[in-house]
Amino acid sequence: MTAPGREPAVAEAGASGPTLAARHVAKTYRRGPMWRRTRVPVLTDASIELYPGEIVGLVGENGAGKSTFMKILVGSLDRDGGVVERVGRIGYCPQEPVLYERLTCDEHFELFGEAYGLDASTTERSRSELYDVFDFGRYSATRVEELSGGTRAKLNLGLALLPDPEVLLLDEPYAGFDWDTYLRFWDLTSRRRAEGRSVLIISHFVADEERFDRIVELREGRTVER
Ligand SMILES: Nc1ncnc2c1ncn2[C@@H]1O[C@H](COP(=O)(O)OP(=O)(O)OP(=O)(O)O)[C@@H](O)[C@H]1O
Ligand SMILES: [Mg+2]
Repeated sequence: MTAPGREPAVAEAGASGPTLAARHVAKTYRRGPMWRRTRVPVLTDASIELYPGEIVGLVGENGAGKSTFMKILVGSLDRDGGVVERVGRIGYCPQEPVLYERLTCDEHFELFGEAYGLDASTTERSRSELYDVFDFGRYSATRVEELSGGTRAKLNLGLALLPDPEVLLLDEPYAGFDWDTYLRFWDLTSRRRAEGRSVLIISHFVADEERFDRIVELREGRTVER
């Protein structure tokens, strides 16, 4: 079973060097019917490299193309040009949670565990750790339709973390978090970094800047290192 937009990536590059690399990525959206088609160029030359043990921030104004770029990095959206190389497993937390209203939190973890190819005991162990870290185990048997926005955000992030991926791509993961959860998030992220995992985070908050090893900005379709 495959969950939309979260397929684990296959190894496409060598073991040394970056865990994720994108060079000269270009993307133009096409809108409207064929006879009145308009073109929206979003990315013209976007590049990024993620090395093991790095936390990198991806910033840019609303509509700059951050989510578009991340979807291309994950492989859930086609690009028009450029190269993307992935090593190991990728966990992806989309900006809009991709959740099923009628399923419970437990059922989500089981579904995604299968999609990631995890065995039942690994899923179970990882799930209870995530319930602990983000403090939402009391909702394990609650359907998504009854969850608050913040708890949905925790589940959305938990599903990306479930397979303990080498590379984590997070699209504004903490927009709906309270302060305590936000701090727990950074705790967990720092631990992952110490274990040599890499994390790319789309963020809006300038106050976060000192938490990142590097910041990459998307401006007029191009990436600029800050
Ligand atoms: N499926 C689509 N079809 C056509 N245009 C799109 C599509 N998705 C995004 N766009 C356009 O592409 C541009 C970049 O959108 P994107 O969502 O990547 O920006 P963003 O930097 O993530 O913005 P935000 O900070 O608001 O999340 C916007 O102008 C948006 O309207
Ligand atoms: Mg976005």
